[in-house]
Amino acid sequence: MKIHCFFLFIGSTYNLKIFINFLLFCRYKMLSKLRPKMKKKQTVKYLINFFDNTFGLRNIYFQQIAQEFKMQESNQQKQMQSENEKQQQIERQKELFGTVVNRMHSHCLKYDAISIFFPEYQNPEEVSCNWVGDMDFNVCPYITEGIQKRIKTNNIYGYPGLLIKYEPFLNSLISWCRRRHSYEIQPQQINITQNTLQTISTLYRLKSKKNQGIIIQTPIYYKIIDQATMIGRKIVPNPLIFQDGLYYINFELLEEQLADPNNKIMVFCNPLNPSGRVWTYDEVKRVAELCLKYDVFLISDEIFADLTLPGYKHTIAGSISNEINNNTATIFTPSKAFNLSGLSISTVVIPNQEIHRQFTQKNNSQGFYYANIFGQIAYENAYSFQGEQWLTDLMDYIVSNYEFMQQYLTEQYPDIEILQMQAGYLTMLDFSKTNLPYQKIKQILINSNVLLEDLSDFFYPKQTSQLFRINIACPQVKLKECLEKIVHGFKSQSKN
Ligand SMILES: Cc1ncc(COP(=O)(O)O)c(C=O)c1O
Repeated sequence: MKIHCFFLFIGSTYNLKIFINFLLFCRYKMLSKLRPKMKKKQTVKYLINFFDNTFGLRNIYFQQIAQEFKMQESNQQKQMQSENEKQQQIERQKELFGTVVNRMHSHCLKYDAISIFFPEYQNPEEVSCNWVGDMDFNVCPYITEGIQKRIKTNNIYGYPGLLIKYEPFLNSLISWCRRRHSYEIQPQQINITQNTLQTISTLYRLKSKKNQGIIIQTPIYYKIIDQATMIGRKIVPNPLIFQDGLYYINFELLEEQLADPNNKIMVFCNPLNPSGRVWTYDEVKRVAELCLKYDVFLISDEIFADLTLPGYKHTIAGSISNEINNNTATIFTPSKAFNLSGLSISTVVIPNQEIHRQFTQKNNSQGFYYANIFGQIAYENAYSFQGEQWLTDLMDYIVSNYEFMQQYLTEQYPDIEILQMQAGYLTMLDFSKTNLPYQKIKQILINSNVLLEDLSDFFYPKQTSQLFRINIACPQVKLKECLEKIVHGFKSQSKN
């Protein structure tokens, strides 16, 4: 009877299916015990097949589970993909920025001028060079390609066509500012110069006379001050307020100074060098509106704008209103973000037609008509989509250097503090917690073979402080070497 029932049971194909599935299920259960990790997923898959095979239709409940598993699987794949991309990105950035380049004897100020400007450093070859605003990275490959292409296809270097203002050149700036800063520029508003200081000096001459005042917020890149004193202009310093590691504007004093009719120009450095402070929209607006109110011409030096760190927003002064735009000269150039100072090219946007015309005339009267051919090519290729991609990688690398420095100093020597950096790569180390005087700090740095920028010249009148500017745009191994020397120097000092 039992045997009879058994044959009846397996007699029908339908029941045979159930039986085979049952056997498969048992087999799976045994296997899954051996492979515990696969267990849950495989069980679900098996059950779905089981119902499918057995009843010929998919049970809705299992269908839902299957979908969830599919989604989990595709999320895992996506995660793996983004992890792969992240890894590739890290590798690419290491290749672009992690390579140490020997810049000694390469016609470069940063390394080759140590013995001239800093004779106190006995062995220039051993100095950690973290001073001037110049990055130790190979230039964006797309810029190199552009220059190489020009050399290969046409190696005639006669007068460059600056006077006719080559359209692709102008368009590169126009679309860059539109895309990245929502700032509209007309081609006829652009003026080309060799560098930022030439622009500033020309504007000083154009918009002020001898002994008239130029309002300058300090600390600031010292040559902006020097340019004014060299041509007999009066410096009206507007010291920034240093509070909790950040600089703030003293608006009360600023308004007083702007109200003085002898003061004709204000220089606004946004983002600020040194420190890398990005002025907020409200701060920029207030400064620009005050200048307009008191008829003081605004020179807005925005050459660090493209190095604004993620999380901060740069505001172009001229973008605030047409009236402000008409009262402003905005200096915009890839020379800082793409490290092109050696190619002598810069631009300034002057929307006021009359000031623009006078500016060109003034420049011509000083013998300036042409900009370097390679500079123009580099400029165009910097302000391109390829350039933008490189810049994104650069910013990631700079952020990782900044974080590395923070972690290293916190662990190794917390008495040396780092100022908050919102843009650029020129931040400041604050040595005040070491309780050492300026001269002693400087001496330790010299003895340690570390060249940081002493900020005395960045103030007017000059003043010493326990803040030193550090350039972190270098391969991380070089930054580590520099920090190790600093920490070793200060630790040895505390032992003595
Ligand atoms: C804020 C600022 N403006 C102007 C300059 C000078 O730029 P350039 O070499 O184009 O004259 C520098 C140089 O580092 C700077 O930091």
